[in-house]
Amino acid sequence: MYTQALNQADTGPKVVEDAEKLARFEAKIDAEERIEPNDWMPEAYRRTLVRQISQHAHSEIVGMLPEGNWITRAPTLRRKAALIAKVQDEGGHGLYLYSAAETLGVSREELIDQLLSGRAKYSSIFNYPTLTWADIGCIGWLVDGAAIMNQIPLCRTSYGPYARAMIRICKEESFHQRQGYEIMLTLCRGSADQKAMAQDALNRWWWPALMMFGPPDAQSVHTEQSMRWKIKRFTNDALRQQFVDATVPQAHFLGLTIPDPDLRYDGASGHWRFGAIDWEEFRQVLAGNGPCNRERMEARRRAHEDGAWVREAALAHAAKRRARAAIAKVAAE
Ligand SMILES: [Fe+2]
Ligand SMILES: [Fe+2]
Repeated sequence: MYTQALNQADTGPKVVEDAEKLARFEAKIDAEERIEPNDWMPEAYRRTLVRQISQHAHSEIVGMLPEGNWITRAPTLRRKAALIAKVQDEGGHGLYLYSAAETLGVSREELIDQLLSGRAKYSSIFNYPTLTWADIGCIGWLVDGAAIMNQIPLCRTSYGPYARAMIRICKEESFHQRQGYEIMLTLCRGSADQKAMAQDALNRWWWPALMMFGPPDAQSVHTEQSMRWKIKRFTNDALRQQFVDATVPQAHFLGLTIPDPDLRYDGASGHWRFGAIDWEEFRQVLAGNGPCNRERMEARRRAHEDGAWVREAALAHAAKRRARAAIAKVAAE
């Protein structure tokens, strides 16, 4: 069906060859086979994946900032150890995903440059501040919880390196979600002040968490094509509903109230129906006007500049090793 996108007026050998490659590519996708880095792929498929995987990588890296903010203030040694491990995991996810994007022929320098220059997007959720310890609980419970909903289907995405990276990432995300929920549970079983802190955090994180699934299907520009290419397996709205259905009973177990007066259980469909999402807020945060956009980008730029000497030292060391190996080779001959 994508063959229509080719210029049909031109029937030169190149176009015929491309049409054959495209047919082979589509057949592979239809047969649920993975597309690998050396396989031929349509340029638009490659571009879509570079955009999606790099946005995902940037989100992992920027996502370390709001939680990293609480490492020094974690209430106990045990909480601190878990939080450090979690934030390190997110850094690892970012590096995996940059590597997966690199298999599509884009360099890491280019991707980092896109982030630091503001040309690339990352998940809007990380532009909200972490005001109390309960925010760390809410991030694990809701933000990592939403990430799991999004990412489990990506373990079956059509591009091999992305699908394989997702398998390990999802295992770690599930630990993140549990540690967050356990923080919430401890606060909710604690003093009245602790419970109020948990409720306040839920009030602030609930709606941004629902926005993490992206715009409604009717407005999502990439969904249809991505579903056809099996990059995406479920639509934004389907995943959002799945998240709400899983999370509302968890909030009730905690004894917390979801900050949505329109929330109600629809017995006929078995779904929790929720109120309207403020998409204007989502657009504003994406456009750079969220509470912490500037702070996050500044932190990333500073980290990149501070790390310049490490990159230079690593390159110099690699050059010396290459030179030594070349000399040893000549001597051995
Ligand atoms: Fe992650
Ligand atoms: Fe995570």
